[in-house]
Amino acid sequence: MNKLRNDLLIKTLRGEPTERTPVWMMRQAGRYLPDYRALRDKYDFFTRVQTPALAAEITLQPVDQIGVDAAILFSDILVVLQAMGLEVQLIENKGPLLPEPVRTEADLSRIFIPDVEESLGYVFDAIRLTKQELNNRVPLIGFAGSPWTLLCYMVEGRGSKTFDITKSFCYTQPVLAHRLLQMLTDTTIAYLKQQVKAGADIIQLFDSWGGLLSPDDFEIFSLRYLRQIIQSLKNEVPAILFAKGAWGSITEIVGTGAAGIGLDWTIRPETARKMAGNGITLQGNLDPARLLSPIPELKKEVTKMLNGFGPGRYIANLGHGMLPHIPVDHARAFVEAVKNHVYQIREKQVFSSL
Ligand code: CP3
Repeated sequence: MNKLRNDLLIKTLRGEPTERTPVWMMRQAGRYLPDYRALRDKYDFFTRVQTPALAAEITLQPVDQIGVDAAILFSDILVVLQAMGLEVQLIENKGPLLPEPVRTEADLSRIFIPDVEESLGYVFDAIRLTKQELNNRVPLIGFAGSPWTLLCYMVEGRGSKTFDITKSFCYTQPVLAHRLLQMLTDTTIAYLKQQVKAGADIIQLFDSWGGLLSPDDFEIFSLRYLRQIIQSLKNEVPAILFAKGAWGSITEIVGTGAAGIGLDWTIRPETARKMAGNGITLQGNLDPARLLSPIPELKKEVTKMLNGFGPGRYIANLGHGMLPHIPVDHARAFVEAVKNHVYQIREKQVFSSL
């Protein structure tokens, strides 16, 4: 493999010192970018996802235009559900819709563990093309949804604030729920291994709805499966686990073997570091809506966040995805503020390798 010219993120995930804190943004490729909106007017969502040249072009936009230290493949967590036999639509201004959700034993006959090479080959083609076009400028992050978060869409059939249909399914038909979660896990392991083979340098797992579960249920319905996925990647690439709203289980998340933990903005950096210990890289956690503050205020927030986390084992990011109405110059100001930051307290450094 050729050497990355910017390896800040990889080094930070390994616990090695770097000259500055790396920065990228969840959902950095998307609607706040005018060039993305132009492609959106021409091609529907899954056409953009399934056409490697378009996916690669969109993936590169924030690297070229915002100056982030990593690319994240333009795709979606829901492609795994399509590969498993489900129809997934994306409705304008509403989000995902699965017209035939899975809720009974009979529904299970429509679901299968796919040959990922066959049904998700376009993702691996997009990774290969993106790697070529990146030409080792920055690492490429591949990703997948957690089995629990995918189950939420599979059973609910759409987005929800509570995912109570999914919870009711899990609590009344646990055997069925665990069969589905294991199928999702097996598919995801095969899918991520192929992403790595195609060239993904890092993997991020999105457990967007993990925080809806109690700590015990988070263990039973989510972490148990995430652990299998992370262990399967152990000798391949570093994994970052972002489980929104689940930092109450931070000790257990550290125990999965992930190289990094993504945090949302409802925890103080200092508290997170205390809870997680020094042996893991933390990533986050600015409230994405904070990017709407006037730029001088935004810079102050970034300074506070960086000083809170300290310089070692830390990747600057948002606490969840970019919002569509964030001005491009504010996204750029966020990245610039991280790059220009000078830490006040050097002795707070956390380097497990030193
Ligand atoms: O981060 C990136 O820039 C890479 C691409 C990416 C997308 N989705 C593109 C996308 C990633 C990493 C995702 C992950 C994803 N998708 C998650 C987990 C992360 C999170 O935000 O919690 C989830 C839950 C989904 C499912 C999904 N896809 C939803 C709920 C929606 C609609 C809501 C929304 O944010 O628009 C999508 C559509 C989607 N996925 C868009 C993009 C850029 C918007 C499509 C458009 O209208 O152009």
